[in-house]
Amino acid sequence: MSRTTTEEKIIDANKQGHPLSTDQKDGNTKKLYIESYGCQMNMNDSEIVASILSETGYNTTLNLEEADLVMVNTCSIREKAEQTIRKRLQKYNAIKKINPNMKVGVLGCMAERLKSKFLEEEKIVDLVVGPDAYRDLPNLLEEVNEGRNAVNVILSKEETYADVSPVRLNSNGVSAFVTITRGCDNMCTFCVVPFTRGRERSRDPQSIISEIKDLQAKGYKEITLLGQNVDSYLWYGGGLKKDFEKASDIAQATAVGFADLLKMVASTFPEMWVRFFTNNPQDMDINVLHTMVKYSNICRYLHLPVQSGSTTVLERMNRQHTREEYMELIDTIKTLLPDCAISQDMIIGFCGETEEEHKDTLSLMEYVNYDYGFMFSYSERPGTLAEKRFPDDVPADVKKRRLQEVIDLQRKMSLANTEAYLGKTVVALIEGNSKKSDQHWMARNSQNYAIVFPKGENQKPGDFVKIKITDCTSATLLGEFVEQAS
Ligand code: SAH
Ligand code: F3S
Repeated sequence: MSRTTTEEKIIDANKQGHPLSTDQKDGNTKKLYIESYGCQMNMNDSEIVASILSETGYNTTLNLEEADLVMVNTCSIREKAEQTIRKRLQKYNAIKKINPNMKVGVLGCMAERLKSKFLEEEKIVDLVVGPDAYRDLPNLLEEVNEGRNAVNVILSKEETYADVSPVRLNSNGVSAFVTITRGCDNMCTFCVVPFTRGRERSRDPQSIISEIKDLQAKGYKEITLLGQNVDSYLWYGGGLKKDFEKASDIAQATAVGFADLLKMVASTFPEMWVRFFTNNPQDMDINVLHTMVKYSNICRYLHLPVQSGSTTVLERMNRQHTREEYMELIDTIKTLLPDCAISQDMIIGFCGETEEEHKDTLSLMEYVNYDYGFMFSYSERPGTLAEKRFPDDVPADVKKRRLQEVIDLQRKMSLANTEAYLGKTVVALIEGNSKKSDQHWMARNSQNYAIVFPKGENQKPGDFVKIKITDCTSATLLGEFVEQAS
């Protein structure tokens, strides 16, 4: 993977594979070491797991050697992600030799994909739990403590963990993620998510609002609504999105879609900044854009993965839209929200990708002028439709060269976009220390750009401030404090 932005939010490099900690609960005596890999959804799930386990006697520890229980929340999106996790398991194995009572559990997408095969392949694993089975953890742990291995990888039609209040792990106390949908029904041919996270379901809006109320009371200033495909959010009393047609007339008529939810959140919490991702071009609703126009506390930033700029590749990927339709959507966004930043995900070298199709990707990128992006070489995943239908036939060196071309172009556009900020004053929310120096703050503006500036008096994380931009890299804005913003 390549990111052209530092301190990025979508896949937070600070949290990849680092031990996570939270406040200690009195009376808990057992020690949990928990690590999370992959997307923000996994990170949020780890917070749900930590919450469930804190009710079962576990406090988090940052010290692997003293752990009673090690949990690793895993990612299957590319082969490399799985390899990283297998390496981590070897490390746990070494520790287990010193501390034989330590139990090891695998959570998340890799657990779901490999199921009990994990227990055979990775002898050190005691517990395998899929993304919809975290409520069962206390029972599963009982089994493990009695000396048996335990597996629960059942995917659910209902589970949204609506009533589990996540404990925040490694939180900056300023911005938090709130999951609104789980699973995905889109069946993009390259993607393992529909198999590992199951069918799509949405969370009760009231439980979303009360979670945000609680966050606000704790001093949080910004929330990000999270889903594989937020545009497809649909609450009609519970159940799978695909069963909506079968719901009663009343349930259908009073259903809450994503634009409605966004409106509810933005109007209930006018002092908070509201973000959301991921948007999916095929499901994006114009009402979401109108809602953004109406509420200035909804941040001017859309992550709009396109994966390829070629209609024929998009077709093979089953993305349900053409290059031209995507361009039209971009035109609409730019008309309605001229100050909105847009980022992409791209897959380079998908099955059968020709030089012509690759050029379409480059020209689409120039058309959109993305602020930044996440670019990956295609990695074939077992069990996906692409694996069954198409050979992974773009040679590795060609994938590598094309990926480099895409990255270079993105870096060039990102730099031009950050340079356009020079001399301007922007409002930003201080999130905490800058990664490189505790003499500097890192803040973020509405467009999701990281802004680094020297600390001054009476400033703290959670403050909205005005910053004059004086310098930049392709990924970060550098500036000077002007004044507090209200
Ligand atoms: N729900 C999001 C993406 C989820 S996966 C969407 O609508 O697109 C996150 C990103 O991982 C994807 O956008 C895609 O760019 C990348 N990805 C998924 N499967 C991949 C694969 N098999 N090889 C390479 N990249 C992949
Ligand atoms: Fe994957 Fe496509 Fe859903 S990328 S998460 S199947 S929208």
